[in-house]
Amino acid sequence: MHMAKTSLLFIACIVSLLSHTACQAKVLSFNWEVGYVYGSPDCEEKLVMAINGQFPGPTIRAKVGDTIDLELKNTLETEGVVIHWHGIIQRGTPWADGTAAISQCAINPEETFNYRFEVDKAGTYFYHGHYGMQRAAGLYGSLIVDVADGEEEPFHYDDEFNLLLSDWYHKSIYEQTVGLNSRPMKWIGEPQSLLINGRGQYNCSLAAHLIQGSSTCKFTSKACEPVVLRVLPNKTYRLRIASTTSLASLNLAIGNHKMTVVEADGNYVKPFSVDDMDIYSGESYSVLITTDQNPSSNYWLSVGVRGREPNTPPALAIINYRPNSPSKLPDSSPPVTPVWNDYAHSKSFTYKILAKEGTPRPPPHANKTIALLNTQNKLDGYTKWAINNVSLALPTTPYLGSMAYHVNGAYDPQPPPENFPLDYDVMKPAKNPNTRQSTNAYVFQFKSTVDVILQNANALKENVSEIHPWHLHGHDFWVLGYGEGRFQEKDASKFNLKNPPLRNTVVIFPHGWTALRFVADNPGVWAFHCHIEPHLHMGMGVIFAEGVDNVNVSQIPKKAIACGMLINNHLP
Ligand code: C2O
Ligand code: CU
Repeated sequence: MHMAKTSLLFIACIVSLLSHTACQAKVLSFNWEVGYVYGSPDCEEKLVMAINGQFPGPTIRAKVGDTIDLELKNTLETEGVVIHWHGIIQRGTPWADGTAAISQCAINPEETFNYRFEVDKAGTYFYHGHYGMQRAAGLYGSLIVDVADGEEEPFHYDDEFNLLLSDWYHKSIYEQTVGLNSRPMKWIGEPQSLLINGRGQYNCSLAAHLIQGSSTCKFTSKACEPVVLRVLPNKTYRLRIASTTSLASLNLAIGNHKMTVVEADGNYVKPFSVDDMDIYSGESYSVLITTDQNPSSNYWLSVGVRGREPNTPPALAIINYRPNSPSKLPDSSPPVTPVWNDYAHSKSFTYKILAKEGTPRPPPHANKTIALLNTQNKLDGYTKWAINNVSLALPTTPYLGSMAYHVNGAYDPQPPPENFPLDYDVMKPAKNPNTRQSTNAYVFQFKSTVDVILQNANALKENVSEIHPWHLHGHDFWVLGYGEGRFQEKDASKFNLKNPPLRNTVVIFPHGWTALRFVADNPGVWAFHCHIEPHLHMGMGVIFAEGVDNVNVSQIPKKAIACGMLINNHLP
């Protein structure tokens, strides 16, 4: 298989040579070390998890067809680490997906692991820690894939900026984790700051600071100075926007400037124009802006919280029209985020996202449909999230190893439920809030088409239902539709099969459902989970597996799976 791929690439090279464009597919090599350093993301000094001393981690920039070859060394003192390449499909390299206990063993302190995989689709991606709550400790960065040489993006722009959005807590992830694991649970609360490219300003109104020239903000370090986007008048800029927040759903707006959305999660969308946009954790977008406003002014870009009563001030950046000074105050005040619980506003944005013409269409029928009920539960007094009343627990042997080698007893072999009781009322707290934990996995027939109905429900408290952005590893899926209340069979007749967007992350709205379709054609074991870090930690995820017997076991790096029941290379 490897050979076949190489020769295909070789043929592609000859063909492109003949057409006078050089063959450029490259291997990009990196040496990374993960460790804690002191940092001041929001002007308060804290420990941040950094890569080669950098926070956020270095931006990887590659072209379609390139291979990333990355040696990751764990220089954390006392814990393992892995890095997940969010949005990269990992076809043929499921062991490089970077999910602890799923695709690989956590890399022990002082040890290294080699991530080698191909990036096969242009777009805006990112990477992040996928062990414990390490993402929330700051272990993340951007991964941008450009079109191959000689190819063009289907829209024009003069230049681009990259905005990686996150939220930031002053409590360490260890304190957060212990709180979530406690009985009763101690909730992590709202983040102290929102960050743009790892910078924010805690307890300071940047706007007030600039307006009054007051001393409310002390930029104690260069690391927390506001982000400035320096633009020229009458140009078109592409803003790449991705969110790796732990908790917050976000809204982004730019004073006086409309945005045209052109990409979502590495897939082109039918362009549409908005004044503000929502971004859920795990999502990425590209928008185009035209700098056609009064050039003697600067403008605010602001990022605020959606879907939870905000207790975190908005993050601000400045669009600086050159040659104005970047410290010149914008004439108008920063755009205000829509009211946090204006779900109609959020839905109208989300429903506008449709595939650009030419995007692959979904197969017309599914071979299998599963419904996944999202609930908040109790387990012996601990608070959990569960799917069809199963709260995800991760095994000590990564699924990829135990499935590929048919190790008995590594995980619960009982298949998880594919539906939930007909009389379950999604509008009310559960009559019986108790749940159970399991390591079980959904195993799909290789190459089958699967429909997933994500069904939201009421949480433990009356009249509370939260937003959950669901992210699938190893695939893009088509978003076929959304609806209110409980999904009914007749809703399937309204599925959008004409131009459903392809994505890797999709939101479920409070008390509603979202339907998606994917083809289970990527041999491996893949996490599918809520991208809210504390929710995942409390069990809000499932495991999908397909075609694992098509994975060539001799290709799986021993290091990836030599732990738990496969320790000491007791490999057949
Ligand atoms: Cu970006 Cu499984 O996560
Ligand atoms: Cu969630």
